[in-house]
Amino acid sequence: MTRPNRVEVHLRSGEAGCCWAREPRAVAVVVDALRASATITLLLHRGASEVIVVKEVSEAYAYRCAHPETVLVGERGGLKVMGFDFGNSPTEIQHADVEGKCVTFTSTTGAQCLVDCLGAAAIIVGTPINATAVARRVAALAQAANAPVVLIPAGLATDPNAIAEEDWLGATVLAAHLAIPLNQASEKAFQRYHGSMQASGLLAGFLNSAHGRELVQLGFADDIRLCAQVDLITDVVPILTAVVPLPCGGQGVRLRRGTLEHATPL
Ligand code: MLT
Repeated sequence: MTRPNRVEVHLRSGEAGCCWAREPRAVAVVVDALRASATITLLLHRGASEVIVVKEVSEAYAYRCAHPETVLVGERGGLKVMGFDFGNSPTEIQHADVEGKCVTFTSTTGAQCLVDCLGAAAIIVGTPINATAVARRVAALAQAANAPVVLIPAGLATDPNAIAEEDWLGATVLAAHLAIPLNQASEKAFQRYHGSMQASGLLAGFLNSAHGRELVQLGFADDIRLCAQVDLITDVVPILTAVVPLPCGGQGVRLRRGTLEHATPL
């Protein structure tokens, strides 16, 4: 099916969103609001030279074998993976020494979505903490390419039917920042999450989501508070710059720090 390449914003979650991003060559924004998008944004904000995103823990280990200098960051079950340097915890990364270093990152869902979007016109990591910077960059890319934008609430890779409220809320924040019309089919979801945010606030929405509650139980309430700070970071738009062949045969993606000033061609 071919779709008109109108410059408008679509909200489509999980695997279906990634698939949709590839077909009309959309500008894809992966929103894993708790917590992968914030962790990646903070890694680049703290000076990491690049973030190599891989789907599997085994791929991260293999990448480190081939590149011993790489810093390993990521989680499974919300917790730091054995042998990794840091977990997928933005508050941990706020104090991490990653200046000038290459980081290899994996997470349960966010990392999967980023790799699954390959084929889109551009792939960006967005979340409330970098909302304004992302909105400016996405609008410029979409206008330049006359491409639609798809905001992808990442969901839960292990349960495609689960509705990740926190990711929908995060995507709604981004949609509200974008000076691009919303596609009609996405209006209902936008109104629902926008209304709930106006009534209770973003932080309460994050804390009350299923994943938010899990993270509180694991002791990560501070991460949630950080992830709910809109525009905490104003100068980092993680953007895919290359596909990375992995030593074990798969592929990862390289993210670098983009800003409106440092435009990357589509
Ligand atoms: C993910 O990518 O699945 C999440 O970021 C999980 C987490 O909160 O650690």
